[in-house]
Amino acid sequence: MSEADAPLVEVRDLKIGATVYPPGEKPHEIEIVHGVDFTVERGKVLGLIGESGAGKSTIGLATLAYGRGGVEITGGEVRVNGRDILKTSWRDVRALRGGEVTYVSQSAAASFNPAKKIMDQVVEAAVEHKKFSRKEAEARARALFEKLGLPEPDTIGNRYPHQVSGGQLQRCMTALALCPEPDLVVFDEPTTALDVTTQIDVLMAIKEALR
Ligand SMILES: Nc1ncnc2c1ncn2[C@@H]1O[C@H](COP(=O)(O)OP(=O)(O)OP(=O)(O)O)[C@@H](O)[C@H]1O
Ligand SMILES: [Mg+2]
Repeated sequence: MSEADAPLVEVRDLKIGATVYPPGEKPHEIEIVHGVDFTVERGKVLGLIGESGAGKSTIGLATLAYGRGGVEITGGEVRVNGRDILKTSWRDVRALRGGEVTYVSQSAAASFNPAKKIMDQVVEAAVEHKKFSRKEAEARARALFEKLGLPEPDTIGNRYPHQVSGGQLQRCMTALALCPEPDLVVFDEPTTALDVTTQIDVLMAIKEALR
């Protein structure tokens, strides 16, 4: 199957484990994702539902071939655009992350670098992956800020992360994820940290920006 007809994401029998270090016991492996299968077609949205600790973030990060500290993808396949990203080279994984696949985390505050201006961070992946020139990427970022309903979309990028509100920073992270025009965006509960009325605004803004 060529890249063009393959589904965007195909996950088969994905197993993820972690090493735990209980006091007084030998460190041992536990399984946290027990053989998950799903497919995402191009242009579609798939939601993962599960209680806290069920493995949603862990599965989402696996689509970037990433396991958080102590977590290891132990089996199965994750195909993005037809190729198994768990078996490709490090160089290919770098091209994937921030280029083909981007990620909006549960906490924008913990994801932005506090010492760098918002614009520099929003355009970084798009420019590094040579998707757009710096100038084009900044124009895209300003258009996304506007679509996402951020105040002063032309200049808000000159602020540092602590100079915008929590909900605004969460929207900036969505702009960061959309700026490189990725094939797949993984949204990890992008509104969990927000109050209920801001949650609705952010979800509507994301829907608008994805059009
Ligand atoms: N390094 C680790 N060592 C041991 N267990 C881990 C490690 N990382 C994650 N886990 C466990 O893996 C499980 C899945 O975590 P994950 O963050 O994917 O859950 P989640 O479904 O996203 O939950 P939430 O809704 O709270 O965000 C949890 O039970 C967590 O405790
Ligand atoms: Mg989670």
